[in-house]
Amino acid sequence: MNSSLKDGLLKGKVAFVAGASSGINLGIAQRLAEQGAKVAIISRSAEKIAAAAKTITDKGYPCVGIAADVRDYAAVDAALAEAVKQFGKIDIVLSGAAGNFVAPALGMSANGFKTVVDIDLIGTFNVLRACFQYLNRPGASLISITAGQGERPSMFQAHVCAAKAGINMLTKCLAMEWGPAGVRVNAISPGPIADTEGMARLAPNPGDEQRIKSRVPLRDYGEKLDIAEAVVYLSTESARYVTGVIMQVDGGSGLGDAGANAIPEGF
Ligand code: HXC
Ligand code: NAP
Repeated sequence: MNSSLKDGLLKGKVAFVAGASSGINLGIAQRLAEQGAKVAIISRSAEKIAAAAKTITDKGYPCVGIAADVRDYAAVDAALAEAVKQFGKIDIVLSGAAGNFVAPALGMSANGFKTVVDIDLIGTFNVLRACFQYLNRPGASLISITAGQGERPSMFQAHVCAAKAGINMLTKCLAMEWGPAGVRVNAISPGPIADTEGMARLAPNPGDEQRIKSRVPLRDYGEKLDIAEAVVYLSTESARYVTGVIMQVDGGSGLGDAGANAIPEGF
C-alpha cells in the first residue's frame, strides 16, 4: 500500500515508541522515522528491540532500541532519559505494549488477569506519567493503542477488555489535566490488522479471517500502515486542536456486525 500523505511531516521531531519490537508498533516507529522523526523504541527483549531498531537504521534513519519493561516505572523512566540523551528531547510518545491470550475468566488465574492489566493499562500509565517531565511542550502529542474490546465486551477477553477500557478513560483524564500545558493525549483503536501477533492469537483457525472480514463494514483487515498514518496525523500540527479522542481505525468494525448485505440489488 502506498501512503497518500506527504513525506517529511515530522522533520525535527523525536518520538518514543513503547512495545515496538514487532507488529503494529514497529510499523508505527518505521513510519515516524520515514516522516523525519528520530525514534527511540523499547520492549522487554534486548535482542528483539535491537533487531527492530536495526530494521530502521538499516534504511538510514536515526533510531535507538532500548530494553525496558513497561511494568517497571524506573526502567521506563531510564529509557526516556536515554532517549533524551541520544536525541535531545521528546515530542511524540506512543504507548502500545500489550499482552493477550484467549481464555475464559474461570480459566484465568489472578496472575493471568493481572499480567495483561499490568502490561496494557499500568504500563500505559507508567509510560505517559514518566514521559511528562521530558516532553517538549507545548506541542507534545501522546498516543496510546487501545482496541475495540475497550468499548465492547468480548468473551474470553475479560483481561483485555478491562485493560483497554482503562486506557480509554486514562486517555480522557490526562487530556483534561495536561491540555493546559499544551500536551495532547489521544488513543487509536485499531480493528483487525493483517499479519499481526494479535490476530494470530484471536483468529488462529482456517476460515476465521474470511468470517471476520465478512462482518467488517469495509470488508477487509487493516494494514499496519493504516494505524501508522493515523499516528502521523495525530502527531502533526494538523491535529493541534484534537485531544481526548479515541480514534477508530477499524474499517467500521466498532459499529457492530455488518454481516448482512444492506444494499438492495440494482444500487
Ligand atoms: C491462561 C495464561 C495463558 C493462557 C499465560 N497465562 N497464557 N492463562 N491461558 N493462554 C497466565 C500464566 O499461566 C501466568 O499465570 C500468567 O498468565 C503470566 O504468564 P507469564 O508467561 O509468566 O507472563 P509474561 O512472561 O509476562 O507474558 C505475558 C503474556 C505473553 C501476555 C502471558 O503472552 C506475552 O508476552 N505476550 C506479548 C505478546 C502479545 O500477547 N501480543 C498480542 C498483543 S494483541 P500463573 O497463575 O500461572 O502465574 C492484543 C489484542 C488486542 O493486545 C485486541 C486485538 C483485536
Ligand atoms: P505484538 O506484535 O505482539 O506487539 C506487542 C509488543 O509489545 C511487542 O513488541 C512486545 O515486545 C511488547 N511488549 C509486550 N509486553 C511488554 C512489556 N511488559 N514491556 C515492554 N514491551 C512489551 O502485537 P500487535 O498485534 O502488533 O499489537 C500491537 C498493539 O495493537 C497492542 O497494543 C494491541 O493491543 C493493539 N491492537 C492490535 C490489534 C491487531 O489486530 N493486532 C487490534 C487492536 C489493537 P517484547 O516481546 O520484545 O517485549
